[in-house]
Amino acid sequence: MVHFFKIIDRGTNAEGKEQIEVIWVDADEKDQVEDVQICVVMVGLPARGKSLIARKIVNYLKWLSINAKSFNVGTYRRTETPKPGAEFFDTNNTEGERLRRAAAEAAVTDMLQWFSTGGHVGVLDATNSTKSRRKWIKEQCEARGCQVLFVESKCEDDEIIDKNIRSVKVNSPDYKGSDPEEAVRDFMNRIRNYERVYQTIDDDEEKDLTYVKLVDVGTQVVINNIENYLQTRVIYFTMNLHITPRSIWLSRHGESMFNVSGQIGGDADLSPRGMMYAEKLPDLVSKIVPEGTKLKLWTSTMKRTIQTAQFLPYEKKEWKALDELDAGVCDGLTYPQIEAKYPADFKSRDDDKYNYRYRGGESYRDVVIRLEPIIMEMEREDNIMIVTHQAVLRCIYAYFMNIPQHRSPWMAIPLHTVIKLTPGAYGTEMEMFNAGIPAVSTYREKYGSAEMGESEGAASADLSMLADTAKTSQEPDSVPTGPAPVEKLEKAAAKAAAKLGAV
Ligand code: ATP
Ligand code: F6P
Repeated sequence: MVHFFKIIDRGTNAEGKEQIEVIWVDADEKDQVEDVQICVVMVGLPARGKSLIARKIVNYLKWLSINAKSFNVGTYRRTETPKPGAEFFDTNNTEGERLRRAAAEAAVTDMLQWFSTGGHVGVLDATNSTKSRRKWIKEQCEARGCQVLFVESKCEDDEIIDKNIRSVKVNSPDYKGSDPEEAVRDFMNRIRNYERVYQTIDDDEEKDLTYVKLVDVGTQVVINNIENYLQTRVIYFTMNLHITPRSIWLSRHGESMFNVSGQIGGDADLSPRGMMYAEKLPDLVSKIVPEGTKLKLWTSTMKRTIQTAQFLPYEKKEWKALDELDAGVCDGLTYPQIEAKYPADFKSRDDDKYNYRYRGGESYRDVVIRLEPIIMEMEREDNIMIVTHQAVLRCIYAYFMNIPQHRSPWMAIPLHTVIKLTPGAYGTEMEMFNAGIPAVSTYREKYGSAEMGESEGAASADLSMLADTAKTSQEPDSVPTGPAPVEKLEKAAAKAAAKLGAV
């Protein structure tokens, strides 16, 4: 069963604080998620962000436990034609046309096969730039009982296109070993060949299609013929995406009195060392957040996060959805006390930590569901700092870094450390900054983890091990103020481009 929180109202309370009202929506009904299979068909000229949008949709849905997968036609095309020149994409090139059609057919066939094994949302990532191609895909999908949602990305801004080509396309495997300037020229010619035949979704002739058109990175959005709740979610998500460069800074609260005594949950004050972290944060943050950055600061409604953020000079907002995982009847106990009082529960939790729900409390799965509006807001926002709790940070980190559910609840997120995430076109860069103030460890290994192999999902996971691009620093000597680790980013981009890439 899948649940969502849905924003139903936004407003301001008596103290002038922004308030967002959400309701819990059960997507357990037939027309909602379980029995719906949707093919999301990307549409648009090359370098319009289709692969990025496709990847984000898939990550978002998988994070919500919806079985989703992207099928990139470029990857299929590359098996026969690994490094095509622009002329390959000329529609007068009959051999090129044949190979491109074959690649599209292979991707659609695999996608339909995947639907028959229980897939829920398949994303067909290609240009799908003609009416006849869209008609053919729709017929194929509907014959198998799949709904079709077209997502068109239109962008006429030459500056954005040029930037997209230079930052992403020249690293595509299509141009491996090529001179970058030659690659840019060839890619521009490829776009010209597509432009000759490209037909935007026609609001009259194709009015029966279910579609969303994102014009100039969401400046204008046209939505047509939406049929159900899951389509609405996908569309709302794509509308919130933006490509403005930004970073997200995450921190747990400072060490709390409960952390010191080993108790979980509660609403304790900071310990003296936790307070030292709160006092040091403005200085640490001033070194790692570029001067002049406009930053919004979000905390939970719990004392320990509010106290931690109290000296930071940014616009603040408290979110109930950022409160720590509710440990129900175990709230206020230590792990040994829980083990003694509820031995079977204790073991069940270790066996399946993501799904285990505390009696009268929550599971990690529950936390992810209540974090959905937070993620949606994070996608809309620019620079944000979030001060929250261990379990909540694991869920947020898992979303941005694409960490699977069997690992995310076991990630070691240290106290007194700021984590910086910088989302990019093909992955998120991670940096960690330790404040150098000692704190207890609240981390508990899974039972028997020393004897178990990693394949069993037992091993604890250091964040930096799970990141493609990671950098850690220890105060006071080495807080980096220089540029991001560009070589690592480029490597990650090239790696990602090798997996994805153009048709
Ligand atoms: P191709 O058809 O060659 O595969 P594509 O449309 O899939 O191209 P991507 O590789 O996803 O393009 O993205 C290229 C760049 O587009 C990325 O740098 C990304 O940040 C940017 N981008 C993302 N969303 C949009 C958008 N809505 N409009 C324009 N550019 C975008
Ligand atoms: O111990 C600190 C804490 O934030 C508790 O309040 C919370 O129950 C726990 O961490 C979550 O971590 P885990 O899911 O590993 O028990």
